[in-house]
Amino acid sequence: MKAAFYTRQGPAAEVLVIGEQPVPQPAAGEVRVRLRTSGVNPSDWKARKGGFGRAMATPLVIPHSDGAGVIDAVGGGVPVSRVGERVWIWNGQWNRACGTAAQYIALPSAQAVRMPDGLGDAEAACLGIPLFTAVEAVRRSEVEAGMTVLVAGGAGAVGHYAIQVAKARGATVITTVSGDAKAAHARAAGADHVFNYRSQDVGAEVQRITGGRGVDAVIEMDLPTNVALYAKALRPGGTVVTYGVSAQEATLPVFWLMRNRVTLRFIYVYELDDAERAADLQEIERLLCSGRLVHTVALRLPLDQVARAHDAVEQGRVVGNVVLDID
Ligand SMILES: NC(=O)c1ccc[n+]([C@@H]2O[C@H](COP(=O)([O-])OP(=O)(O)OC[C@H]3O[C@@H](n4cnc5c(N)ncnc54)[C@H](OP(=O)(O)O)[C@@H]3O)[C@@H](O)[C@H]2O)c1
Repeated sequence: MKAAFYTRQGPAAEVLVIGEQPVPQPAAGEVRVRLRTSGVNPSDWKARKGGFGRAMATPLVIPHSDGAGVIDAVGGGVPVSRVGERVWIWNGQWNRACGTAAQYIALPSAQAVRMPDGLGDAEAACLGIPLFTAVEAVRRSEVEAGMTVLVAGGAGAVGHYAIQVAKARGATVITTVSGDAKAAHARAAGADHVFNYRSQDVGAEVQRITGGRGVDAVIEMDLPTNVALYAKALRPGGTVVTYGVSAQEATLPVFWLMRNRVTLRFIYVYELDDAERAADLQEIERLLCSGRLVHTVALRLPLDQVARAHDAVEQGRVVGNVVLDID
């Protein structure tokens, strides 16, 4: 089969290769998916570059966790009726050598989720990491109707979904961006208040909007950078759910956090337990079936241009998701 892969870490153009790899056979409990799309996320370029000191887990890696396609074979114990099902994929390349940047992937049946009618293959390649992370972050923030939430980076792939998930739960959403185009994108997701974190005093704006109380929860894409904001923006007893960090370590205002009884939670979408995974999948299905989710496929390229796709994500040149089409 045709696949994109690398055998050493480094810059995209130097290490990513297009070539032939064996077609995988589904083992017991697995399905094989004929892929149509493959989604590119920040974790894909970070793994390819060895970010945060990560070595290659296997000698050859076919990257990408996210994707969509059609089940064309099943292993023992999986109902044959699944053949022909359109599915989206989560954890495609997590703890495994072979991800979705290929014509086929074989993986546990539960990691290939039936797609609702009407969802496109490109949009379905945005669910595994961006939407799943947003749903987990909002759920772990215990967002309910009437609450006010601050979503950091509301034009990001995860942030844009997080705004929508929090709005679907009935919250008021404040978000931060770095410019006008990103502000418009965050508003299109339903954000009630959008501030430029580079040019505005976000803490003062949050105080103004919440009548001096602060938000109930922060959904955070870069804790080390943004933690200084919480003393002004978060209410006593509030919660911060972090899914992103730009550095291995952070300096925290621990006395302030303690005195204000702040709950800090960290999430890692690849490592959810079965109950968390099931709760998120239920909420994802409800959101998809509502037909109201806005997906943002910002750049669509053929598999052959995988290096260009990685560079676009790594350099933050796109607003939304980057998706590869697979012949
Ligand atoms: N823990 C997990 O399971 C998990 C899952 C998914 C993603 N992640 C991580 O989460 C991060 C975001 O992922 P993503 O896919 O959403 O990336 P993305 O699409 O590149 O979005 C990141 C957004 O944040 C904005 N931003 C950067 N610095 C900011 C700051 N200090 N305050 C507010 N906004 C800021 C960026 O725009 P500007 O630079 O223009 O502001 C951009 O719009 C990445 O580090 C990724 O690796 C972790």
